[in-house]
Amino acid sequence: MTSDTSTPRPAARPPFPAPASALIQRRYSCRTYLERPISAEDKGRLHEFMASRTRGPLGSQARFGLIAAAPDDRQALRRLGTYGFIKGATGFIVGAVGRGPKDLEDYGYLLEEVILAATGIGLGTCWLGGTFTRSTFVRRFGGVKRGETMPAVASTGYIGDDGTERIREREEGSRRFPPAELFFDGEWGVPLAAAGGGTGGSAAAGDEAGAGDEAGAGRYADVGPFAAALEAVRMAPSATNKQPWRIVRMASPEGGRSRRGPSTAARHDWHFHMVRTKGYGKGSAVFTVLRIADLQRVDLGIAMCHFELVARESGLDGSWVVADPGLELPGPGIEYTATWREAG
Ligand SMILES: Cc1cc2nc3c(=O)[nH]c(=O)nc-3n(C[C@H](O)[C@H](O)[C@H](O)COP(=O)(O)O)c2cc1C
Repeated sequence: MTSDTSTPRPAARPPFPAPASALIQRRYSCRTYLERPISAEDKGRLHEFMASRTRGPLGSQARFGLIAAAPDDRQALRRLGTYGFIKGATGFIVGAVGRGPKDLEDYGYLLEEVILAATGIGLGTCWLGGTFTRSTFVRRFGGVKRGETMPAVASTGYIGDDGTERIREREEGSRRFPPAELFFDGEWGVPLAAAGGGTGGSAAAGDEAGAGDEAGAGRYADVGPFAAALEAVRMAPSATNKQPWRIVRMASPEGGRSRRGPSTAARHDWHFHMVRTKGYGKGSAVFTVLRIADLQRVDLGIAMCHFELVARESGLDGSWVVADPGLELPGPGIEYTATWREAG
């Protein structure tokens, strides 16, 4: 099935405070904040940006707000199923999305845009996935409507820790899978030629990921101007750093299906898939008992956001479509999400 989801989104979209690629590099999960409250000016800039992010690329409606932190939030966050120790956050970016087939992906996409804007304003952020829909976070947001859900929030405030080490580790690859395990050419499992440099073994997924490959500009040589967009996907945050995103590049269809096999075509479809982590997320005991949202779908939306922002910044046009190429997949637990179709 192919459905074009490229309905125009609101026109007045304030720009990011800096190039998206720079913001993606600068962002990391900040878990320690200064006590200083967010200034009225910075709040104003964030509010203006949030107000423009109301429609996701796959059609869901969402809305966002900034709420002040309350003294017992740390305990509340634990009960709601989040992990990690968030110290001193002065605010939370919260939001709600209307339920629909791609609601969680759209929410991930839009909240990541807000997070990148916050990064540009000079704020630290950390995604927090849990079960917020019946929480005090919702009440402070003014409630969610029937048919809406709040799948995740983000802590924010002025940065109180030193994220440089984490950013360095991430860029050197030790906290991310190598490209060869994430990006495929024509069919599942065949690394994009350019991604073949990632032979340094799997990064052990998990928040304390193990060794990965060496960084090197040569890795993406054959994907030309898409190198930066793929690298932006690799740098994306994901719940417990599981990195469930996989992309298969195929020749763009001429009136039908994407063509299989390694491609020298001028235009491509970039098919985003999700690899579910066994025993984690949807269907796992913890997620079921706590009714936590399907966070790996949120992760896919975040990856879509990074890909599109950086592709556009590299001068590449395209749009999101739902056009499952029906690939032969290596096992259960892999789901098609959406496709970036390069413009002709
Ligand atoms: C949907 C989602 C949910 C997350 N939930 C939490 C959380 O509950 N607690 C936390 O400390 N970090 C959370 N994170 C942050 C991830 O652990 C983090 O993005 C990942 O380890 C990569 O590190 P980085 O963001 O510093 O690049 C979440 C991230 C995402 C995308």
